[in-house]
Amino acid sequence: MRKQFIKNIKGLVQVGENLPSAIRGQQMQHLPVLEDAYLALEDNTVVDYGLMSDWPGITDWRDVEVIDATNCYVLPAFIDSHTHAVFAASREEEFVDRIRGLSYEEIAAKGGGILNSARKLNDMPEAELFNAAKKRIEKIIAAGTGALEIKSGYGLSLDGELKMLRVIAQLKAHFPIAIKATFLGAHALPQAFKENRTGYIDLLINELLPQIAKENLAEYIDVFCERNYFTLEEMTRILEAGAKYGLKPKVHVNQFSIMGGVGAAVDQNAVSVDHLEELDDADLAALSNSATVATLLPGCSHFLTIPFGNARKLMDANAILALASDFNPGSSPSYHLMNVLSLACIKMKMTPEEAINALTINAAAALELSETHGKIALGRKSPLVLTKELPSLAYLAYAYTEDHIQRIFI
Ligand code: NIG
Ligand code: FE
Repeated sequence: MRKQFIKNIKGLVQVGENLPSAIRGQQMQHLPVLEDAYLALEDNTVVDYGLMSDWPGITDWRDVEVIDATNCYVLPAFIDSHTHAVFAASREEEFVDRIRGLSYEEIAAKGGGILNSARKLNDMPEAELFNAAKKRIEKIIAAGTGALEIKSGYGLSLDGELKMLRVIAQLKAHFPIAIKATFLGAHALPQAFKENRTGYIDLLINELLPQIAKENLAEYIDVFCERNYFTLEEMTRILEAGAKYGLKPKVHVNQFSIMGGVGAAVDQNAVSVDHLEELDDADLAALSNSATVATLLPGCSHFLTIPFGNARKLMDANAILALASDFNPGSSPSYHLMNVLSLACIKMKMTPEEAINALTINAAAALELSETHGKIALGRKSPLVLTKELPSLAYLAYAYTEDHIQRIFI
């Protein structure tokens, strides 16, 4: 058994027994921190923690790794509840097109964007796709992410979507962190079905869903409900079909336009509604006191130069607010959740406490990992991060280009 004792911790963050599994409204302002603390782990399970002044001492020091965390913080690793981390190639040529004045939607209209990624993914052998994603996820873990959702949606064909989901299944088996898979066949209408929308949706429902269920390839189902992508009615039909196979909704809604997707997804018991750069009063009312998590993606807003989600309104409306990276080659080529933390504070005016809550407890809720992730408590094996020396916890968000991570415990 591996025993580790972390002593002199400046702040043990998000710690306590009986912390809620999701927090909303004013609760977001409070972040439990134990100052000048210790933490004892056995095979990564928390067996003891408390104030240094109350430490009872260890009688048998044999085989105990002692880690001195003077001036350092220990936090539950952040959870990334929304990524597109499996893809064939980066898309910096579109980034340059946008610098020259084209919009994300204009690039998509001329065959770039998601369809560009789909062409490359369909051409790439499964083993190569797996290797590329594996390297990316090694970096994601090193950046302090302790659990991850990955979507399909760059296949947009029977073989392509299955290939992507099988790669995600291989990644789940390969890595020690929790990975959850989301079927996003309805990410864009593929070229081959340009004149046959219903045909594509039939393919998703009648051919892909049964095979995905048979191979147990996904936990969730997603639809990009957006003008030029999928309508509200199409989303509803796809989510209803997914529900028959036990896939719960986690959807892309309100990125560029409001189409009623938030309320409809809440009605279908969505685990989360993601993006929400646009938000109206009906959306806020639907999320108020709802169990559906509202997930904002500030990295996407920053990279595409579109509005940031209104975190304050969502918190004031008593929604469960989470943050994620949206890591993907088109709209958010960064998986750094520390950067998401900074953007949330700088651009959305979330306090560091609110943003850390949104990246730990509430992000775990957005992946249905509340029982195991997002907080530090006795008997838990939640992945942990030990920071470098920091003057305060707010410094994590403030020094927005520094590497704050000293070590991860998974
Ligand atoms: O979440 N909005 C839709 N999907 C992705 C972008 C995908 C892409 O551009 O490749 C997103 O931003
Ligand atoms: Fe996304």
